[in-house]
Amino acid sequence: MSGVMEIRSICCIGAGYVGGPTMAVIADRCPGLQVTVVDLNQARIDAWNAADLSQLPVYEPGLDAVVGRCRGRNLHFSTDVDGAIAAADMVFLSVNTPTKTKGIGAGQASDLRWIEASARQVAAAARGHTIVVEKSTLPVRTAAVIQTILGAAEGDTPAGRKSFSVLSNPEFLAEGTAIGDLEAPDRVLIGGEDPVAIEALAAIYSHWVPPECILRTNVWSSELSKLTANAFLAQRISSINSIAALCEATEADVREVARAIGADSRIGSKFLKAGPGFGGSCFQKDILNLVYLCRHYGLSEVADYWEAVVNLNAWQQHRISALVVRQLFGTVTGKRIAVLGFAFKADTNDTRETPAIRICGDLLEEGAQLAIFDPKVSAEQMALDLGQQPGQGEGVWQKVADPLEAVRGADAVLVLTEWQQFAELDWQQLAAVMRQPAWLFDGRAICDAGAARAAGLKVWRVGEG
Ligand code: NAD
Ligand code: UGA
Repeated sequence: MSGVMEIRSICCIGAGYVGGPTMAVIADRCPGLQVTVVDLNQARIDAWNAADLSQLPVYEPGLDAVVGRCRGRNLHFSTDVDGAIAAADMVFLSVNTPTKTKGIGAGQASDLRWIEASARQVAAAARGHTIVVEKSTLPVRTAAVIQTILGAAEGDTPAGRKSFSVLSNPEFLAEGTAIGDLEAPDRVLIGGEDPVAIEALAAIYSHWVPPECILRTNVWSSELSKLTANAFLAQRISSINSIAALCEATEADVREVARAIGADSRIGSKFLKAGPGFGGSCFQKDILNLVYLCRHYGLSEVADYWEAVVNLNAWQQHRISALVVRQLFGTVTGKRIAVLGFAFKADTNDTRETPAIRICGDLLEEGAQLAIFDPKVSAEQMALDLGQQPGQGEGVWQKVADPLEAVRGADAVLVLTEWQQFAELDWQQLAAVMRQPAWLFDGRAICDAGAARAAGLKVWRVGEG
């Protein structure tokens, strides 16, 4: 292709945490563009179309306002996948790419069945020239697979000539801040070989992203940059958590260390918060994918290096649950423990790979009675994640309505998510209804430790010696 290609209609396959918010912001910023987000999951599409904007399937601050402005105008949610592909000049693939659970590469490689299925659907349903954009996070060289599938469908058809260009355009938004990240991205990355396709996509982002923030690379660099960005971010968390453990052993304070090293502009101050380890759907899966790729290319030392980041993360989570058991006189059997926060970070309802799963799992295994409070996570989701229904007895959990109910009769409070409301808890009120001696284990260092101590609680804060 040569010249300029004007995009009038785009389709996004996958109405999840990335597809929904990303397309909503594109529709908001490009009123002249028709944007249709499609998914096989009827319930999810129904929720995106819900009249009550508080019922959208993804909780993200500010998302409801953006969807409210565009939905029905130039933003549509539908299960008519073929129809939306046929009408589109550009199709984004934003489907899930989880870690394979069986077969070759199980536990490390990405499961590409959904990306392949959606590429085949595009190959079959597209008309004319279609730009296909990888939005999902993919192993480097996946574009070649997509190109091969699409290439087999190219040529003359009764509806005219069919052809494709493939681009990589990974997404860097973080949950909880997705709208701000999409509206003011540090950068937009476009990888590809076809300059017309690259400029057509860049033109969309140019509606609101400054030109110097739109980076163009070859397609392999783009795919690999996404895995590398997540690996570097996760590595910082494992690094600071490793130092947190050393701080606890040496009377140093990890927040003071983080401030001191973060003041060095070469290190920078962000992503240095010690905690219960990283969760979320992507860090672990993307690093394991990187590890798998490195082993595939015979780079076993490189693979070991990155695998250590994931291993340290699991160790940090087991370390916290073991510490709780140890401080509660070596046994939590039959003891009530209040767990504050279940989401993998604040301001999201997402629990994928949340540290709470492993830490609560360990405590249930030890026979604890967990009273779990999270402002956004449902009991149904907790049951799925913990692999057991709420119950009575030993090694059981229940979801409670507020922190006060959680701590009633509890021997300990364990804070796992940094919801702002946990910074404002009234420790006199909470301590008064706990069984003494009682503990606050603050895995996020978000609570007012002074107030908790003044109320008579023993306090452990991550990374505080
Ligand atoms: P998700 O599971 O929330 O959404 C994916 C959606 O795709 C699901 O609703 C699923 O039903 C749909 N789907 C799968 N196959 C389909 C098909 N053939 N046709 C139609 N719909 C289909 O996943 P997500 O969190 O949005 O992540 C999507 C991709 O983006 C992943 O590769 C992920 O690594 C990447 N990513 C995620 C984030 C994040 O914050 N969640 C950030 C950056 C990148
Ligand atoms: C992360 C990246 O930040 C995004 O750039 C990327 O697009 C996304 O993964 C993805 O590919 O899915 P996300 O997982 O949504 O975004 O959220 P983060 O803010 O990165 O937090 C990840 C985990 O690290 C959370 O459990 C968080 O609590 C933890 N974290 C983060 C810390 O423990 N300490 C920190 O200093 C920062």
